[in-house]
Amino acid sequence: MHALRDDTYGRICELMYGAIGLSLNPSKKPLVSSRLAPRIQKLGMDGFEDYLSLITSDTDGGEFQMAVDLLTTNETYFFREPAHYDLLEQELARTRPRKLSVWSAASSFGDEAYSTAMLLSDQQQLGRIGSDWSILGTDISDRVLRSAMEAVYPEDRLRNVSPERLKRYCLRGEGPYEGLISLHPKVREHVRFGQLNLCKPIEDIGPFDVIFLRNVLIYFDAQTKREVVDRVLTQLKPGGLFFIGTAEGRVPCNTPLQSLAPGAFRKAAA
Ligand SMILES: C[S@@+](CC[C@H](N)C(=O)[O-])C[C@H]1O[C@@H](n2cnc3c(N)ncnc32)[C@H](O)[C@@H]1O
Repeated sequence: MHALRDDTYGRICELMYGAIGLSLNPSKKPLVSSRLAPRIQKLGMDGFEDYLSLITSDTDGGEFQMAVDLLTTNETYFFREPAHYDLLEQELARTRPRKLSVWSAASSFGDEAYSTAMLLSDQQQLGRIGSDWSILGTDISDRVLRSAMEAVYPEDRLRNVSPERLKRYCLRGEGPYEGLISLHPKVREHVRFGQLNLCKPIEDIGPFDVIFLRNVLIYFDAQTKREVVDRVLTQLKPGGLFFIGTAEGRVPCNTPLQSLAPGAFRKAAA
């Protein structure tokens, strides 16, 4: 197969930027090439130009979505950045809400949404929150959403889950399913998933009490980051909690926020 030409790479960058806000620079060319090349070979195509024609055609047979899946990184695991969950727990112990809605806004395989579900289920049992709580997980990628709905995980992804929670909420696979964990219906029943592109206008899906937007801003350039954060924050209630990845630095936005801890904020009261 021919090497990825600069002009073809430039068109792939424009396409991904326009569609999902993915900001690629020339240094990412080898990465893009190595992620797409096996797929192009599998399809029996001659090269990147043919692949670009396919993913920009009206009859791409879902290939554009496949390219998005290949170019985005979906790394996630249960109770990633645990200080955020501790902060949420303290908040609930203090406010004791009867109802609660949470949005995991780049949910990947669902680890963040289900971690939150375990925490909320515990809080419900402790009588700190009512039974009316729900979590929405959204992502751009079909593939991760399908997997999230199945709620079956390799054991390693639950390495931060406490033994008590493993016992309460997880079912270990046996025989051919050894090494896999499926989640108990009592956490699954509060969680739903749907596709949502953070770079397009968002219909009214909130308002939420808590929003996680963690480890996705890294994909975007400065302007897109600001637009995405402000757009997402329209769905957060005044006084609600907002989390970004702790490594994502200062939160770029025009919406007034109070900083609580690294990556943790409260939206100003109305
Ligand atoms: C690294 S994962 C973060 C998962 C989880 N929030 C965490 O912190 O563990 C980033 C996710 O953002 C999703 N993503 C990238 N661009 C997106 C966009 N424009 N709209 C919605 N999701 C997007 C990717 O598909 C990926 O699943």
